[in-house]
Amino acid sequence: ADEGMWIPMLIGKNYEQMKKQGFKLTAKDLYNANGSSLKDAIVHFGGFCTGEIVSDKGLIFTNHHCGYDAIASNSTPQNNILDNGFYAKNYGEEKPINGLFVRFLQRMEDVTAKVNEATKGLKGAEKESKMLQVFETIAKAAVTGPTIEANVKDFYKSNQFILFVYERFDDVRLVGAPPQNIGKFGGDTDNWEWPRQTGDFSVFRVYAAKNNAPAKYSVENVPYKPKKFLPVSIKGVKNGDFSIVYGYPGRTDRYLTSYGVDMATEKVNPTIVKLRDIRLKAWKAEMDKDVSLRLKLSSKYAQIANYWKYFIGQTEQLKRLKVSDNKRKEEKSFTEWAAQKTEFAGLMEQYDQIYKDYDPIAVQRTYINEGFLASGWVSNAITIGRSWAAMEQKKGDENFAGQVKTSVNQAIATYGETYNEAADKKIFAQILAAFYNDVPVKSQPKFYAALAEKYWTGNPETTFQKYADYLWENSKLIRPEKLKAFMATNPSLETIKEDPGYKYAVNLYPPDYIKTNFGSAVADFETKKAELDHLYLKAVLEKNAGKLMYPDANSTMRLSYGNVQDYPPKDGMVYKTTTTIEGVMQKYIPGDSEFDLPANLIENYNKKNFGQYGNDGTLTVGFITNNDITGGNSGSPVINGNGELIGLAFDGNWEAMSGDIAFDKKFKRTICVDVRYVLWCIDVLGGAKNIISELDIRKK
Ligand code: ARG
Repeated sequence: ADEGMWIPMLIGKNYEQMKKQGFKLTAKDLYNANGSSLKDAIVHFGGFCTGEIVSDKGLIFTNHHCGYDAIASNSTPQNNILDNGFYAKNYGEEKPINGLFVRFLQRMEDVTAKVNEATKGLKGAEKESKMLQVFETIAKAAVTGPTIEANVKDFYKSNQFILFVYERFDDVRLVGAPPQNIGKFGGDTDNWEWPRQTGDFSVFRVYAAKNNAPAKYSVENVPYKPKKFLPVSIKGVKNGDFSIVYGYPGRTDRYLTSYGVDMATEKVNPTIVKLRDIRLKAWKAEMDKDVSLRLKLSSKYAQIANYWKYFIGQTEQLKRLKVSDNKRKEEKSFTEWAAQKTEFAGLMEQYDQIYKDYDPIAVQRTYINEGFLASGWVSNAITIGRSWAAMEQKKGDENFAGQVKTSVNQAIATYGETYNEAADKKIFAQILAAFYNDVPVKSQPKFYAALAEKYWTGNPETTFQKYADYLWENSKLIRPEKLKAFMATNPSLETIKEDPGYKYAVNLYPPDYIKTNFGSAVADFETKKAELDHLYLKAVLEKNAGKLMYPDANSTMRLSYGNVQDYPPKDGMVYKTTTTIEGVMQKYIPGDSEFDLPANLIENYNKKNFGQYGNDGTLTVGFITNNDITGGNSGSPVINGNGELIGLAFDGNWEAMSGDIAFDKKFKRTICVDVRYVLWCIDVLGGAKNIISELDIRKK
């Protein structure tokens, strides 16, 4: 198979199939709770990406875009490692990254019986809260020390529950990264697309105390000695080769109904795209003027831009591949099957009803998270208000007050770092104006309608500019210097409440905003949908009893297996499985922010200086496989049939952007950077022999 993100603990069930497709090792080599296996070389990187251990000294490979925030936040115009790249020549030059952690999965355990027992007979919100309580209890019991983390996750929409136990390491250091015109070559233009030539890798190292146990950062710490690390193969890949992707896929929604698909394509996605567009344009204009600001905003910008394009592609491909129509057909045959089963009868009618009820709210709700709360000062003001209220409740508890103030000051400092008056003000006003055009006056929340009336100029754009001007002059919570000065006066909650910025923000206070404006409609929709999803999946599992079925991604470790494989983007065309340095040179645009190249790449290309990494007079840069991945898999190792690293997964392709909702075998591919290109960049361009010499490189 190619479709499927399988649970490592249960991979034995797929083993025969994997062998048939080209896997050469044993099932125990993949997952073994009592010995070392490939799973021990995989880390959850910062909780949002995947990394793999590639040396016995805790060296980690992951994507450049996974290390991006660490790289950018360690860059200044004087020491610009984002633009120029960086390779530590020894341990001493490696850069500690505050807040970055990796965790290793120790074990997983099916706890379905325990959870079901505890929630027996309960329904709706009551069942949900009881479930969370049981999760906590089970997780707590599994935590055996301060660096052990555990959680229980639900699978198949709460039809199965699994406990995960991790060991967490907080001393993770940056070892190397290519210049971003290699690591992010192609930028947003090429993002989510094949053919691709991005060198999307960066190098980190996990450190431990002298006894190899996890420890907070300390100069005394030493490189961690792992249970397992991946050897690296530079033999090369070809169409049909076996491939495994092992990592932490974040979220898929493969059982979303046609009703959910229609809501995404018609309402939610276009709104997200519109609101992100406003943010990106306003930021870009300012970033282009000032390197220091660009470095500060780059990471945030890249995150917003990544999913801006994602939602454009998802909408386009859901429509092109007629995903909603196909789901409707499946749902029709499901309904026929379910008609005789009392437990499952009428499910689709109920879905239809809850989506109809929710429809008028969908766009407004998207505006809250993607729009109103996108203004950093608004979220800040909400946090301040909430923290001050909590302090009043615990009056006299100096310890608590100290903690609250530290975390608020931290939030304020972070906010200040990326503050840009021109962009922030423009974004605020434009989003409020867009809301006016998207939400009929009769459905607008009261506070908003009141503002529109009070500042009305004849059109929404200038109306909300006028309001923004007023707020920026009169609130003490927006301009960072004013905010810091204000907080230094130790204001009371009463004083904060007088602030016009606070008065605006408080209207958006979650979950109050939702309740005030929509009553229980949102909670009703979510609870009811969770109930229907649970039943739907229960039915689907019953209907497919005996067949192997994989659960949706949920940020737990998964294994996907498949093959290196080309695909036909359009009739009459086939995209090859690999790209080469020739393609890098073909796309080169001197001075361009997305397609410029470092001089030493061009020099070494001209000299055909590919070292041991070249083949047939060129250098392979990227390749594609039919593995099933999603966001969170970024940085995941692509492993061949012998358990060797051949590349790093970093993206999906445009023709299958609908993949998180429906896997299309014909089109869905995983885009990988070839490990030979990674090593060439480190070795030949970066001169970091020290990194290369740590690896177990296999040439045959
Ligand atoms: N699309 C990639 C992913 O989410 C991220 C690529 C980052 N590169 C970029 N140009 N933004 O896995």
